[in-house]
Amino acid sequence: MVLARRLLVIGVGAGNPDLVTVQAVAALRAVDVFVVLDKGDAKADLVAVRTEVLSRHLPAGSYRIVELPDPVRDPDLPYAEGVRAWHGERVELLERLLVDEVGDGQCAGLLVWGDPSLYDSTLRLVDQIRQRGVIDLDHQVVPGISSVSLLAARHRITLNRIGGAVHVTTGRALAAGTADDQDDIVVMLDAGNSFTRFAAEPFEIYWGAYLGTPDEILVSGPVGEVGSEIVRLRAAARARKGWIFDIYLLRRRQPD
Ligand SMILES: C[S@@+](CC[C@H](N)C(=O)[O-])C[C@H]1O[C@@H](n2cnc3c(N)ncnc32)[C@H](O)[C@@H]1O
Repeated sequence: MVLARRLLVIGVGAGNPDLVTVQAVAALRAVDVFVVLDKGDAKADLVAVRTEVLSRHLPAGSYRIVELPDPVRDPDLPYAEGVRAWHGERVELLERLLVDEVGDGQCAGLLVWGDPSLYDSTLRLVDQIRQRGVIDLDHQVVPGISSVSLLAARHRITLNRIGGAVHVTTGRALAAGTADDQDDIVVMLDAGNSFTRFAAEPFEIYWGAYLGTPDEILVSGPVGEVGSEIVRLRAAARARKGWIFDIYLLRRRQPD
C-alpha cells in the first residue's frame, strides 16, 4: 500500500530569524513534525538557527522536531560519485522518517537555509523520494531570502549592471576557469580562496561572511588590494568557529 504524506519545504533565510517571511511563518504553523538534518558539532550553529526560527515564530509545545544525523560525503570517492552516494543515503533516511515519524494526515516540514532553489539538494532528494513510489508525497515549496540577496543588501549594491547578466557559481567552478569571460560573478561554496586568481586583474570584490549573524564580516575593494586581507580573515574566522559560510561578488572594472 502506498502511504500519503504532506511535506512543506520552507526557506527560512540565510542566517537570521528576522529574515523569515510572513508566508514562511504561515507554513511553519501548518507543520506537525519538523525534520532537521544534524550536521555534527562543527555546524551546530546552523542547526541552532533553525531551532531558533521555530521557537521565535511558533508557540512553545506546538510542534515536534525529529533530528537525523546527516550522512557525510565520502571524500575518497570522485566528487560527483561521492555526492550521488551521499544523496542516496539521505533519500533513504528521509523516506524512512516520513514513513515512521509522520502520521496519516500529518504534515512534515523541512527547513532550508536561505532559499531552497539555490545550491541546496533538498528538492532533488524530494524528487527522488517521489520517484521511488513508496510514499505518495504532496509537497510545496516556500521561498526564502538567500545569501545572494543578503550579500547585495549588506553591501548596498545591485548585482547586475544596467541590462547586464549575473553569473552565479561555486568556488570550485571559478577555480576551474568556467567564469573567466564573465563580468559580474557571484561565488558561493568556496573552500579555497578562488578569488585570488583574479588579484592581477581589474576586478572589485564584495565579500561577506556569516551574513545576517552577530559574526558578520564585510570587506570590499580591488581584489589585488583586499584579497590577502580576506584570506587572512577567512582563516582566522574558520579557526575560531570551526566552519565558515561566505559569499562574494566579483565585478570586472569597466574601462572609463
Ligand atoms: C549549501 S549553500 C546554501 C545556499 C542557500 N540555499 C541560500 O539560498 O543562500 C551554502 C553556501 O551559501 C552561502 N551562504 C549561505 N548563508 C550565508 C551567510 N549567512 N553568509 C555568507 N554566505 C552564506 C555560502 O557561500 C555557503 O557556502
